[in-house]
Formats: sequence, structure tokens, C-alpha cells
Amino acid sequence: MEGVSDMNERAHTGSNGAVLRVSLVYMMTGFVMFLTFGLLGLVMRLDHARWLTLSPDWFYRIMTIHGAGMVTAMLLAAMGALTATLSRSMSFSTMWLWVAFMTYFSSAFFVLLPVLVGGFISRWGSASPMSTTFVGTALLP
Ligand code: HEM
Repeated sequence: MEGVSDMNERAHTGSNGAVLRVSLVYMMTGFVMFLTFGLLGLVMRLDHARWLTLSPDWFYRIMTIHGAGMVTAMLLAAMGALTATLSRSMSFSTMWLWVAFMTYFSSAFFVLLPVLVGGFISRWGSASPMSTTFVGTALLP
């Protein structure tokens, strides 16, 4: 039977390199997404400063994509960090980690399509005060 000192030894050496590499891909992808959706945040701030002018419709579409994308990026990076940490004491299947990674992104289509084509806007409630007057699917400022 494995003793506590053996478990500690295994915990500190962390030998599962393949899982660590996938975890790193999760974290790096999350970071790249943070930078990408941060650019949309910058676009919104430029609109606030009146350095560029977005229609209310497009401002809220961009905000919806920015918010959903940022939350997705943070969760992805957190999943990678958690997997890397747990891989010291648990075994993971790299194949299923890749399947989860691909499945995660396949949902992007179902978020982007209603926003970019259908004009859906989410308003997560974190940005206040905001208008509640609609013209079609667009909110008036
Ligand atoms: C890179 C730095 C970031 C910038 C410059 C930025 C900028 C903005 C701006 C300008 C808005 C619209 C606020 C308004 O018009 O009242 C916004 C909304 C929002 N941001 Fe960010 N943000 C950043 C990072 C983040 C991060 C890290 C997260 C989440 C982890 C996040 C989540 C959200 C959410 C959820 C909304 C509201 C979306 C909605 O209501 O549909 N942002 N952000």
C-alpha cells in the first residue's frame, strides 16, 4: 500500500507531462481569448470616449460577445489550472481532455449566430444604468 510519504513525493514530482501540456493549452487559449475579447472592451471604451461611434444595436452586440467571451475565457483557463493541479494526484485521459476542449468551442457557433445574425443582446445586468426601450431587438441608449 502507498504510504503518505510516497503520495507526497508523487504530488511534488507531478509526472503526468501529457496532461500538463493539455492543461497549458487550456490556459494559453484562455489568455489569448482574454486579449481578443479585451479588444472588444477597448472598442466599447473608445465609443464611451466618443473616439468612434457605434450604433446602439452594435454596441450591445459587441458587449454581449465581449461578456460571454470573457467569462468563457476565464472558465477555460480555470479548468486548465484545475486539471494541472489535480493531475498530480489523479489520472486524466488526454483524449477526453481534447474532446472537452473541442466541445467547449463547438458551442461558440450557437452564441455568435443569434448575436451577429439575429441581433440578440444579453445585458447580463452588470452594466447600469441602461435603457429598457427596444426598437426591434435593439436597445435604445
Ligand atoms: C481587458 C479588459 C476589459 C475591458 C477594457 C472591458 C470593457 C468593458 C466594457 C466597456 C463593457 C461595457 C460597459 C458599459 O458600457 O456599461 C464591458 C462589459 C462587460 N464585461 Fe468587460 N472589460 C474587460 C474585461 C472583462 C473581463 C475579464 C470580464 C469577465 C471575466 C468581463 C466581463 C464583462 C461582462 C459580463 C460585461 C457585460 C456584458 C453584458 O451585459 O452582456 N470584462 N466590459
